[in-house]
Amino acid sequence: MPYNGAEVQQLDVSVSDDYIEVIDDINVKGRHGGRRNAQDSASDSDHKSQSDQDGSDCNHNDSTYLSDDQYSEESDGVEDICPEVQEEIDQFMKSFHKLDFHYKIVGKTGEGTFSSVYKAIDLRYDRYINDWDLDERTSEFHSPRSKRQRLHHSKEKRVKYVAIKKIYVTSSPQRIHNELELLKDLSGSKNVVSLITAFRHLDQVIAIMPYFRHVDFRDYFRKLEIPDIQLYMRSLFTALKFVHAKGILHRDIKPTNFLYDCSKGRGVLVDFGLAERESDDGTCSCINSANGFRKESKQNSSALGGYPKNDQRPSKRANRAGTRGFRAPEVLFKCNAQTTKIDVWSAGVILLTFLSKRFPFFNSPDDIDAVIEMATVFGRVRMRVCAALHGATFETAIPTITEKGHSLGRIVEWATARNKDNPLTSQEKAALEFLEATLELDHRKRLSASQALQQPFLTQIDPDVSDDEVETI
Ligand SMILES: Nc1ncnc2c1ncn2[C@@H]1O[C@H](COP(=O)(O)OP(=O)(O)O)[C@@H](O)[C@H]1O
Ligand SMILES: [Mg+2]
Repeated sequence: MPYNGAEVQQLDVSVSDDYIEVIDDINVKGRHGGRRNAQDSASDSDHKSQSDQDGSDCNHNDSTYLSDDQYSEESDGVEDICPEVQEEIDQFMKSFHKLDFHYKIVGKTGEGTFSSVYKAIDLRYDRYINDWDLDERTSEFHSPRSKRQRLHHSKEKRVKYVAIKKIYVTSSPQRIHNELELLKDLSGSKNVVSLITAFRHLDQVIAIMPYFRHVDFRDYFRKLEIPDIQLYMRSLFTALKFVHAKGILHRDIKPTNFLYDCSKGRGVLVDFGLAERESDDGTCSCINSANGFRKESKQNSSALGGYPKNDQRPSKRANRAGTRGFRAPEVLFKCNAQTTKIDVWSAGVILLTFLSKRFPFFNSPDDIDAVIEMATVFGRVRMRVCAALHGATFETAIPTITEKGHSLGRIVEWATARNKDNPLTSQEKAALEFLEATLELDHRKRLSASQALQQPFLTQIDPDVSDDEVETI
């Protein structure tokens, strides 16, 4: 029986020692760490020589290889490849020697800032116990098959897709290492991507992950009804609860990093490229220094409409990684002890996008403009208090920024052109109540992911749309 679960401790796992190596200093729990069955018991380097002899694996005559019409099921359009992408895929396959031993790329599923991601068939899936395949494990658990069904099932050729993330070679080794290491720690949730394995060939690293069917956010964000939005948010907060429970901040929550399948009402959080471990105590040191800064702020208030010429204060540095429009106020105010609450803010921005039907909702080119955008909504008073929390000051002479700002309900009414005949529904008002608690400027008062999951907006979901897939940790 195929076995696939041991941890990779040593570098005896390369498909070809001189060409492809599994990332050696990370204990990837995946297909390459395991003892093989009789059929597959040779080491990977043995595989190379064996396949070199008969040529079968490299020529896709493997028993798990499927003809084109067999893998058309579960098609999501990714396989419609234009000539340029096909050329890119061919180049990639050629440059990453022996990749076709394991995978057949059938399309390109995405491109981010740091990578290209391809959809591929896992040619050797059946030779391993695939711990990463939670769908398979759950279906086996929930619907024990009869002996006849099991026999039939074992004869079926299962098409298993994976996502191959080709991380651009310009990414720093530390960044790549960090992403793979965190991914490895995050296995076990249906709402968070996991790592199957990883390869390196020269300076090119690729991560292999389960493939998730999803729909482009722009195609559905205006169409979702409130119960569908509830499902989306519950799925997202379930993912966040899992990630945060491991002491990890994602740092880049946004629609393209949450792959949502509208037909299943399930989403999966991906892209841990900017993620980091939460600092030990998470205490915001800015708060302790805030009083001093407040005094200074008063002295500087004569500078309203300008800024001090010879500002002697040392400039503040903090991690600002993330995507513009989704950064929490404490990131913009350069707080040095950012917590998992920054992800909750970004999730709140996604909810605001759904309710306002505007994407992107915040669209500033830089952090200064982002603060101004935020102030336009929340007003001067609340922004001053928030800035002071992080040892900063907030002053502006922009006349359109009012003292009190606007309620999020008012913003949504404007954005969706409501009038007396078309007021906000009770469902929308419930969504707004939840939104206020996630878009709370003070991170200490903002809901945690775990608290969010206990709010009526996420617990009272219409049973007709709910799949009751909430995960317990
Ligand atoms: N496991 C996956 N299954 C399906 N598509 C994926 C998967 N991982 C990533 N993608 C697609 O690739 C895109 C880029 O991946 P991501 O990990 O966000 O890379 P980057 O770090 O470059 O932003 C995603 O927005 C998504 O469309
Ligand atoms: Mg991304």
